[in-house]
Amino acid sequence: MNWTRKDLIDIESLSAEEIRTLLACARQFKQVCLSPRKHAPFLQGYTVINFFVEPSTRTRTSFELAAKHLGATVVNLSAEGSSLKKGETLKDTVRNLESLQADVLIIRHSASGAPQFVAERVRSSVVNGGDGAHAHPTQAFLDAFTMIEKRGTLEGAHVTILGDILYSRVARSNIWLLNKMGAKVTLCGPPTLVPKNFEKMGCRVTHHIEDAIGDADFVNLLRIQHERQRKSAFPSLGEYTAFFGLTKERVKLMKPNAIIMHPGPINRGVEIDSDIADCERSVVLHQVTNGLAVRMAALYLVTGNSPDDLEKNLEPYIQH
Ligand code: CP
Repeated sequence: MNWTRKDLIDIESLSAEEIRTLLACARQFKQVCLSPRKHAPFLQGYTVINFFVEPSTRTRTSFELAAKHLGATVVNLSAEGSSLKKGETLKDTVRNLESLQADVLIIRHSASGAPQFVAERVRSSVVNGGDGAHAHPTQAFLDAFTMIEKRGTLEGAHVTILGDILYSRVARSNIWLLNKMGAKVTLCGPPTLVPKNFEKMGCRVTHHIEDAIGDADFVNLLRIQHERQRKSAFPSLGEYTAFFGLTKERVKLMKPNAIIMHPGPINRGVEIDSDIADCERSVVLHQVTNGLAVRMAALYLVTGNSPDDLEKNLEPYIQH
């Protein structure tokens, strides 16, 4: 297994071996997440700062819990509560956090490239918690982890990503990871949100949902990211749902064992019927649980811990 990186910024720059390494560590950490004590203090004495300039429920909370399960001291900072509001620059802000001896900075930012900008200016490890429409690497890892739990391997898996691809960091990170791991990716949505040039990333592009879901092993739904769109990409939400919403009727077109995924937050009744979001085939809450294991693995690795010793070192912390 191989991991020498101080930062986790995107999936594009990772090798297939590094992806397999983080997923293997997440598999080990999932046992800790599910054990009663949820405690494996490999980051005792470390300081982790969760710096979220954009809102978040899942990513922010699971990074905080992951760091606490690993025994780290954790501080949460939001844009509203920080001196960014008083005009301090991002560079000055993160250099001050570094001066507080932060070992890891987790950054979510509306600007694509912000975590890379920070990583080049601090000695602390930087983990990208989602930047603009660029990358959300830990989301791609938790999605992949969930798919592997369900199917055993990503090799040869058919994955359809349905919805607002253009403005989605989740879509881009998923595409990179799935391609590197041998899955086949289909993208589907209106032409304004799923332009044909995504084919250059090695994906099939279709604008017809019936053509996208029949062969899929996994259908991963994305919400419309109004916060990143300068003008509406389709006439109305009702029209979007009519053409691209995952309804009960459309689920009947899917393979009987196909799995429904969503990174959250869900806009019920828009990209997915509420009943379908909660149905047996939906793994949205498993994805959230797996996010905790993936984020423990990410924190463990970027702080220089060895992936090779993990299974042995975890033994005392897992109650069988
Ligand atoms: N999936 C995801 O990133 O959710 P949050 O925005 O709530 O973190």
